[in-house]
Amino acid sequence: MYSEKVMDHFQNPRNVGEINGASGVGTVGNAKCGDIMRIYLDIDENQVIRDVKFKTFGCGAAVATSSMATEMVKGKSVKEALSVTNKAVMEALDGLPPVKVHCSLLAEEAIHAALWDYAEKNQLKIEGLEKPKSDISESEEEEDY
Ligand code: FES
Repeated sequence: MYSEKVMDHFQNPRNVGEINGASGVGTVGNAKCGDIMRIYLDIDENQVIRDVKFKTFGCGAAVATSSMATEMVKGKSVKEALSVTNKAVMEALDGLPPVKVHCSLLAEEAIHAALWDYAEKNQLKIEGLEKPKSDISESEEEEDY
């Protein structure tokens, strides 16, 4: 049911933890299952993501997608990080079962929320970044991947 990559990132998740004095912190919840994801970003003066950590009360698919998503945004610029979508993360994990697609949205939403927090703290405007929703709506879950 799960790819080897999903199992690997679930059993050995990368970047679990928190960052004291993070540049941006984002917390989002999934309305459907009640699971929660928090992402911490450490961003340098050139707007490059130096470090990233996550903590979650989420299922295995949420852990695996967050682990992969954090690996994918680390070292990227703030702008590049916006292109790390849940779809890109799922592709990097060789796919997820359809019922678990909503779990992968937590990582993307939490990264966006953390970037939003960073932008607000520094009075920046990040092109293409929208104010995060705190919940993930049903309609998004029904998207066809
Ligand atoms: Fe809640 Fe997967 S079931 S994040």
